[in-house]
Amino acid sequence: MVPLPRERTYSRDLPLKKGEKVRVAGHLQDYRALGSLSFAVIRDRHGLFQVTLKKGVTPDPLFELLGKTSRESVVAFEGQVAENPKAKIGAEVLAETGEVLSAAEAPLPLGVIDKVGAELDTRLNHRFLDLRKRANQEVFELRAALAEGLRASFRELGFLEVETPKILKQGAEGGATLFSLDYFGGRAYLAQSPQLYKQMLMATDIERVYEIAPAFRAEPSDTLRHLTEFTSVDAEMAYLDGPETLWTTIEELLCRTLEHTRKTLTASQHPLAGSLPQPKRPFPRVTFGKAMEMLGKPSSEADFGTEDEKTLGDLVAKEHGAEMYFITEFPTSLKRSTFYAMHQDDHPEKTNYFDLDFRGQEIISGGQREHRIDRLTSQIREAGLDPANFTGYLEPFRYGMPPHGGFALGLDRLTAKLAQLPNVREARLFPRDRFRLEP
Ligand code: 4AD
Ligand code: MG
Repeated sequence: MVPLPRERTYSRDLPLKKGEKVRVAGHLQDYRALGSLSFAVIRDRHGLFQVTLKKGVTPDPLFELLGKTSRESVVAFEGQVAENPKAKIGAEVLAETGEVLSAAEAPLPLGVIDKVGAELDTRLNHRFLDLRKRANQEVFELRAALAEGLRASFRELGFLEVETPKILKQGAEGGATLFSLDYFGGRAYLAQSPQLYKQMLMATDIERVYEIAPAFRAEPSDTLRHLTEFTSVDAEMAYLDGPETLWTTIEELLCRTLEHTRKTLTASQHPLAGSLPQPKRPFPRVTFGKAMEMLGKPSSEADFGTEDEKTLGDLVAKEHGAEMYFITEFPTSLKRSTFYAMHQDDHPEKTNYFDLDFRGQEIISGGQREHRIDRLTSQIREAGLDPANFTGYLEPFRYGMPPHGGFALGLDRLTAKLAQLPNVREARLFPRDRFRLEP
């Protein structure tokens, strides 16, 4: 029996170590007992390799042990790296010792090498097995590279990373999607967004902040793009002269982020590196009114439905050849519950609020905020809320609050769109939705 490999060699490095004695370990993907020569296919974090058991080299008990070891058990071997031109999977190790570090039960609740795709529900129920598939790991490598790219780009653009509380006394995005919890006998809520806090920070001299953090929404709807817990990439900037500055900041942020991500993924020869878009600037700006006209519903007061968004995505792609575009000037009537949104001075029926859609789906919402306390207070009332419950939020507006605005990007949606995943759940390791609280 070998002890736990101290210096492990990974499949990726095996071809460089021909003739050397190495320790290797991984999941047993397959085992073919062919008598005096038997073959195990092992999978580690970098891929597959073959371990050959050979009479005379490998002790007999190891043949017996592997013969009764289930697929996906964790195994470790020591042996010499051999040249094997016949092995389909590159490198080969000739086993001298080996052990089963952790046996897998059989049958598996979810196949790891099955060609036929399982239902998403089954996959998510046994996510740890689902994530043994390379293609699924790639999604999270993309996601991590995006987060890294966002952080680098925000820093370049002068934004400070902050963290704000997730247990709150008040919601910010309308009561319907608030999760409440018992807080020492009182009531508290899970943050739907860092909205009110990032705005309060605009009353400091920090001026530009961003946060990448979980947001919680009690979304009762069961759709392909709604989660009850998602990652919100939020930004807020002070001394804003209008929404145009937000749009150019978002363009800059997204183009830089995609460039950083492309570099990270190219360095690791990631298969998704080549599929990242290189959007042309400026992104088209389509007013809400124009978008409704394009959809053939010019007098509509209702917000976009999923189908409308998709259709609009196709129309904008045809007309402008763009996959990313802003929908601007959302009507005040649709933004009542967004009490912090600035209404246009000369057109009070319109706000300076916008969405950014990518391939027919909203991925960002944002806008210029109302920084004048009298207007803000009446808008809180118009939203059916009591300003008395917002004293903490309102206080900074009484002592010098610069004009400001910001936006929030859904990291799950962006990842799903970039990886061409139809369901946002696939872009989260352990998604939460109306029906799923575990694993
Ligand atoms: O459009 P939302 O609700 O806007 C806000 O949270 C504002 N505070 C933003 C602002 O700065 N004014 O959420 C922003 C983004 C959406 O565009 C979407 O990408 C994502 O967050 N998002 C969700 N993603 C998955 N599941 C959900 N239930 C989501 N709700 C919002
Ligand atoms: Mg929105």
